Parts: sequence; structure tokens; C-alpha cells
Amino acid sequence: MIVYLNGEYLPLARAGISPLDRGFLFGDGVYEVIPAFDGVLFLLEAHLMRLSRSLQAIRLDDPLPGGQWRPLLERLLALNPGDDRSIYLQITRGVAARDHAFPQAGTPTVFAMVTPIKAVDAIGAGPGVQAITLPDARWARCDIKAVALLANVLVRQQAVERGAAEAILLRDGQVTEGAASNVFAVCGGTLRTPALSTAILPGVTRAFLLALFRDGQMACVEGPISEPELRTADEIWLSSSTKELLPVLQLDGQPVGSGTPGPLWQRARDLYQRGKRAFVESALLEARHDG
Ligand code: PDD
Repeated sequence: MIVYLNGEYLPLARAGISPLDRGFLFGDGVYEVIPAFDGVLFLLEAHLMRLSRSLQAIRLDDPLPGGQWRPLLERLLALNPGDDRSIYLQITRGVAARDHAFPQAGTPTVFAMVTPIKAVDAIGAGPGVQAITLPDARWARCDIKAVALLANVLVRQQAVERGAAEAILLRDGQVTEGAASNVFAVCGGTLRTPALSTAILPGVTRAFLLALFRDGQMACVEGPISEPELRTADEIWLSSSTKELLPVLQLDGQPVGSGTPGPLWQRARDLYQRGKRAFVESALLEARHDG
């Protein structure tokens, strides 16, 4: 595996980061996970916009401004050929003597690697998964894609130990999101997803789906989903860049709706697959045109 670290493309075994890196000491950094389908970085611009927002939120200047990210990521992808892959990209506040406050002068650490996307079937049963609910004990800025993910790690581990693929989090009696995904639910025939706020990550897949639903005349309300509504939902779905759109078939051991992927999920999945194909094909066409 060839990774990118601070301007160099090198084998993973040769990539070293100082233990004084603030990412290691404080979790002081942000990240993105960008999927690549057929070699095309899917929704890259939306991921880069969110990266820029996360950097601003933690008061770190963009280390590679002015269109430098795309060529870097495309080169890294080309150096790691394979099927569907994702790029993990992390920027930390860099190496400095340990002090909570920012260093006077510092150079951010930029790291990126390519990993295969696990087929959904490999992580769950067929086209659907099990989920559990847990209290959302995270901080008050979950809209920042911060590398400090201890709370997410702990809830995901509890899910895995209970045979589930994801933990759906509840705060003040309402659904926020999954440990690493956004949540949709069909309640009384209405498709819903929690509105954007500082309590959830503005998912790129979520936004892509909402735009597809608008174009496809499929109503979706951005608003609260209460715990009782979640427990009696006809359908529950999870969305993320690497899991795409997954139906939850069991919640806390109880079947969701009929316990099989629901009709609205099938419609949404078709819209998503068509939207994704259109994006990938137009990017491939443009690349052939330019090349
Ligand atoms: N996680 N919410 C959380 C807390 C997430 O970590 C993620 C993605 C999402 C979905 O966002 P998007 O559609 O932009 O991938 C929502 C990534 C995949 C991860 O941490 O691996």
C-alpha cells in the first residue's frame, strides 16, 4: 500500500508520524472518507467543502488550498489500483511540545490512504443489517468531522458485541445519527431524517439522497424522530459514503416493519444507484474528453 504523508507518496511501512503529533496526543484534527467507484472520486467536491468547513471550525488553515487536493487524491488512487475503494484523509495540527493551546507556529500533518470498500454482504446479512440503540454521549459539535472518535468507537464496539452492525444514537429522546452513519426512518408512511444541527454530521450521502428525493418526487421531511417513532418505524435506513444506503432489519433484536427491506428503501436505493451511475459515467466521459 502506498500512502501520502506530508508531500510524499511512500509505502505504509515507511510512513512515520512523531508521537508528539497533536492528532495522537489530543485527537486535534479532522478527516474525510471519500469513496471511489470505477476509479472516480464520488462527490469529491462535497467532501472537500465539508473538509474546508471542518478545518475552519477547528481554526486550522487549509494546508493545500487552491485546488491541490484533487490531483493529490487522484494520484494516490492511481498508485493503489483495485475495485471500489475509499480514501481516508486526515489533517492534524502537527507536531509540537504537549500543550493544550495551539502551538505558536506549526506545520499540519497531512495523511491519506486508500482502503478497499467492504461489500455490504460481508458485514451484515444480505441487503440489511441489525442495529441497536444507545444514548448519544458525544460532545456538542458533532457537525465537525473530528478525528477524536472515542465515543463513536465505544458505541460501535457495543453494537458489534451484540451482533449488530451499527448503534443508532438517542439524545433527549430523539434520534441523532449512527456511530458512523446518518439515519432515515419511515414513520406512519412519511420518510424522515433528522434536520442538520450541531448534533449530527452533515453527511455527504445524506445530502445526495435528499437532492435525489427532491428530483424524484419522493417526499422526505427533515425533522425530529422520537424514540417511540423509531421503535415503531416501518423502515429504518443508514447512509454513509462507504455503506451507501443500508436497510436496518432489526432494532434492539425486534424486527423493523416486516423485517425485510421495505418498498421505500427499494425506491431510494434505485434512485441512489441511478444517481451514482450518472455521476460516475459523466466523470469518466469528461476524463476521456480531457485526455
Ligand atoms: N463516517 N455520521 C457520522 C458520525 C459519520 O462518521 C459518517 C461517516 C456519517 C455519514 O457521512 P457521509 O455520508 O458523508 O459518509 C454520518 C465515515 C464513513 C467514517 O467515519 O468512516
